[in-house]
Amino acid sequence: MPINAATRYIALIGDPVEHSMTPVLQNAALDELGVNLRNVAFRVAPDQLREAVYGARALGILGLMVTIPHKEAVMEFCDEVDRFGELMGAVNLLHFSGTSIVGYNTDGYGASQSLADAGIPVKGSRILVIGAGGAGRCLAHRFCLDGAAQVALLNRTVSRAEAIRDEIRTKQGKTIHIGPLTPEGLETAMQTAQVVVNATSVGMYPHTDSSPVPAHLWRPDHIAFDIVYNPLETRFLADARKAGAVTVDGVGMLVYTNEKAIEICAGFHPSIDTMREACIQALHASTGQA
Ligand SMILES: NC(=O)c1ccc[n+]([C@@H]2O[C@H](COP(=O)([O-])OP(=O)(O)OC[C@H]3O[C@@H](n4cnc5c(N)ncnc54)[C@H](OP(=O)(O)O)[C@@H]3O)[C@@H](O)[C@H]2O)c1
Repeated sequence: MPINAATRYIALIGDPVEHSMTPVLQNAALDELGVNLRNVAFRVAPDQLREAVYGARALGILGLMVTIPHKEAVMEFCDEVDRFGELMGAVNLLHFSGTSIVGYNTDGYGASQSLADAGIPVKGSRILVIGAGGAGRCLAHRFCLDGAAQVALLNRTVSRAEAIRDEIRTKQGKTIHIGPLTPEGLETAMQTAQVVVNATSVGMYPHTDSSPVPAHLWRPDHIAFDIVYNPLETRFLADARKAGAVTVDGVGMLVYTNEKAIEICAGFHPSIDTMREACIQALHASTGQA
């Protein structure tokens, strides 16, 4: 479908955005659907954010996906914010709906969907999250909200895990277990966990030989989920697979975030498989790794 005067857009804003997979994923799926809709990415400096948001609305852009560093700052432009956005104090999607700007936070939604696809619903599961950076915080909140039976959080810097535990207690009234990311801490936490999630950057290309989990701690009844998606099979996942565990890679999380944005902004259901394939091809082309 060629771009013409009737083409509509979903845009991504961030600073930087040049590395983003979003346009590649979304345009592959939109092409396949044969709809006159495109995804484009714009680098927006923090001091241009207001102009960018209102300008996008004035141009008839359907919605803005929002990435670092703007996720908190765009809250001030929202007339409404969804429940997860309120919890996180940040949104990753603005939908221009009539005269309103509705903010959504779909971060972590893709993680729960990826696990559900693998036959492991978050509800009722015992989940260990390793890493208490931005992604670890989001996943700990999301898994609590989605009804996990138990959430544990280990981090190299324990104070960051403590802050997340306190925040979840205050905002959700739920208790998570926290601890240091040490061999002993992991051994204890992995004894009770069904699902083990790597939410650190350990193992990411080009440091593909590292894993936050010593190989001998994996059991065949574990489910290993790595949100690092480059390489597709990280050391963390390879070790788990060799021990007989079920593995879930990080591409699904990325893909579902994009699927949700298209659904909210345009009402279409793009193909998950097409977006996944486009993502894997783009990763392969950029690094030769995935
Ligand atoms: N699949 C997806 O859609 C998706 C979405 C978001 C993020 N991600 C990936 O998730 C990863 C984390 O992202 P983020 O935004 O949370 O990053 P971040 O805020 O910078 O946090 C990094 C985390 O990794 C830990 N870490 C870094 N180096 C470590 C090491 N050598 N040993 C132990 N822990 C270490 C940090 O521990 P300290 O607190 O001790 O420094 C912290 O917990 C990135 O690789 C990112 O690409 C994937």
